Amino acid sequence: MAEQKTATLTIDGISYELPILSPTAGPNVIDIRKLYSQAGVFTYDPGFTSTAACDSTITFIDGDKGELLHRGYPIDQLAEKSHYLEVCFALLYGNLPSAEELEKFERLVTNHTMIHEQMHNFFRGFRRDAHPMATMVGVVGAMSAFYHDSTDPNDPHQREVASIRLVAKMPTIAAMAYKYSIGQPFVYPRNDLDYASNFLHMCFSVPAEEYHVNPILARAMDRIFTLHADHEQNASTSTVRLASSSGANPFACIAAGIACLWGPAHGGANQACLEMLKEIGTVDRIPEFIARAKDKNDNYRLMGFGHRVYKNFDPRATVMKKSADEVLELMGVEDNPLLQVAMELEKQALADPYFAEKKLFPNVDFYSGIILEAMGFPTSMFTPIFALARTVGWVSQWKEQLDDPQLKIGRPRQLYMGEAAIDYVDIEDR
Ligand code: SDX
Repeated sequence: MAEQKTATLTIDGISYELPILSPTAGPNVIDIRKLYSQAGVFTYDPGFTSTAACDSTITFIDGDKGELLHRGYPIDQLAEKSHYLEVCFALLYGNLPSAEELEKFERLVTNHTMIHEQMHNFFRGFRRDAHPMATMVGVVGAMSAFYHDSTDPNDPHQREVASIRLVAKMPTIAAMAYKYSIGQPFVYPRNDLDYASNFLHMCFSVPAEEYHVNPILARAMDRIFTLHADHEQNASTSTVRLASSSGANPFACIAAGIACLWGPAHGGANQACLEMLKEIGTVDRIPEFIARAKDKNDNYRLMGFGHRVYKNFDPRATVMKKSADEVLELMGVEDNPLLQVAMELEKQALADPYFAEKKLFPNVDFYSGIILEAMGFPTSMFTPIFALARTVGWVSQWKEQLDDPQLKIGRPRQLYMGEAAIDYVDIEDR
């Protein structure tokens, strides 16, 4: 066993030895768990730019190389050679499945895609123009009120049942949220369709006529699911972990993750990015928007650009761009004006010193909206699709945390800058 390295911290002449933990990959980690009890001080890291909140074996990102690994497998290989439910198995259980394991897992997921019939009533409580993310937060949270046999996070069997239910039912819930928002009848899942085809069928088929899923669109949809499956300790995953640390039930934790993902700085960026491309409209207006994004006095940002971890190309964006070309060609819109604007925006931004110095590159959200719109989805469905795909990541991380014997409730401290203790003043004396 290699001798453990330590970091020495000296405060008021007293030195503290802090263990340095060595990862399989990525930066070393200074273990500060005993710092407060030993030195009486906190560390300060709003936004967690330098903080590892947990250890994990699920996903690794090398931001400088632009590398993303799920259980060690590079995302570009998974996107090309695997498919979403196989990636789900690897994320949930730690390894790629055998053919028999995969067949059993796919059958299990397929047979749990329907939701309790009484849950249909939840949708009817929303306004038709409710954002589908609002509906998903509500309905997924309400799963706690239905699936009582899989709400106990301390029961391994119930954890497994909840995991399968969430992965299986999220496409059904997302499709129902879409159908409800456009006033069309809900379409039940079909067990003869694969996961991505089933989702497209539930979204786009109508009782009035046969709907045949285009296999190229289904492949593109499946690939989009794979590209969004998990991503280390991003904001929504950290939300799920923090919620679960109190012992909250899985459906409440995943609903919290959906709520966090909705923000335009996170999963809501795919909707915001397409709306930005539409606002730019034509290539000649790009310099105006780049100037705004660079203007210190304007908090405007280019949606789909930049990332806390990637300081190189987001490998998912590279795969997504390739998929966009395929889908647009299939849909006969290869000269899609939005794609032209996106490609020219990327070219001009990457040539600009501001973006180069700050290492701002297109992220997963930059091209995804172009594909989803070409497939027929409204912008309001972009983030629900992200949430659908990320559910397996949230669930995998949730399970991993619950298996950790050192699990403690997450309870950050603070740098208090408010009033020191003062006496109450009666209202007549104020
Ligand atoms: C996702 O964490 C994950 O892994 C998330 C995700 C996942 O799979 O879970 O990858 C999914 O959320 C992708 C990101 C989607 N969001 C966007 O595209 C929104 C636009 N991007 C930004 O708001 C921003 O880049 C973030 C939120 C993504 C990252 O923000 P950080 O890491 O907190 O960086 P920062 O805000 O400190 O920015 C550093 C500098 C700042 O300039 P200075 O104050 O140093 O002068 O870069 C600038 C920022 O102003 N900057 C941008 C910019 N993003 C950062 N300037 C213009 N346009 C941008 N998009």
